[in-house]
Amino acid sequence: MENIVLIGFMGAGKTTIGRELAKHLSVPMIDSDALIEQKAQMSVSAMFEEKGEAYFRRMETDVLKELLDQKEPMILSCGGGLPMREENRILLKQIGAVVFLEVSPETVANRLKGDKTRPLLQGADAKNRIERLLEERKERYQQAADLCICVDGKAPETICSEILKKIEKNT
Ligand code: S3P
Repeated sequence: MENIVLIGFMGAGKTTIGRELAKHLSVPMIDSDALIEQKAQMSVSAMFEEKGEAYFRRMETDVLKELLDQKEPMILSCGGGLPMREENRILLKQIGAVVFLEVSPETVANRLKGDKTRPLLQGADAKNRIERLLEERKERYQQAADLCICVDGKAPETICSEILKKIEKNT
């Protein structure tokens, strides 16, 4: 089977959907943030604070390069900002079928209310930040993607079967 790569904004449900797909297809789910945390032995938040965002972004690219060599089929769930680098978008396409989980700013704001783990959304005015960042990133998510699924108001199982159907149609 072809690998499935999930991209999209924070709170789009990449981890949840990734787990669901992995269970359904009996393959491992790999999460780029978790891999980075494992390699660096620190949380993403601590890395942003102590090493800076640029350091984290370099690690995202390193991790993708390593995953290119992985032969076993997998579901890869990517950190929300990972597809912003052109180099990463090229690597993602080489890794597998890239699925963009499209989400509205309202859904993100609801889901991430009170979240302390996303350094880019801390502080006052998170809703505005979400709107601006989503707008800024949208085009690059679309460029990176082979297919796009709107996730607002849908149950994870529905999203999973839509993804599998669309991938089947594309192959
Ligand atoms: C980020 C998204 C996060 C994590 C980091 C930066 C982003 O991952 O990689 O906080 O720039 O959108 P999730 O999309 O899994 O929250």
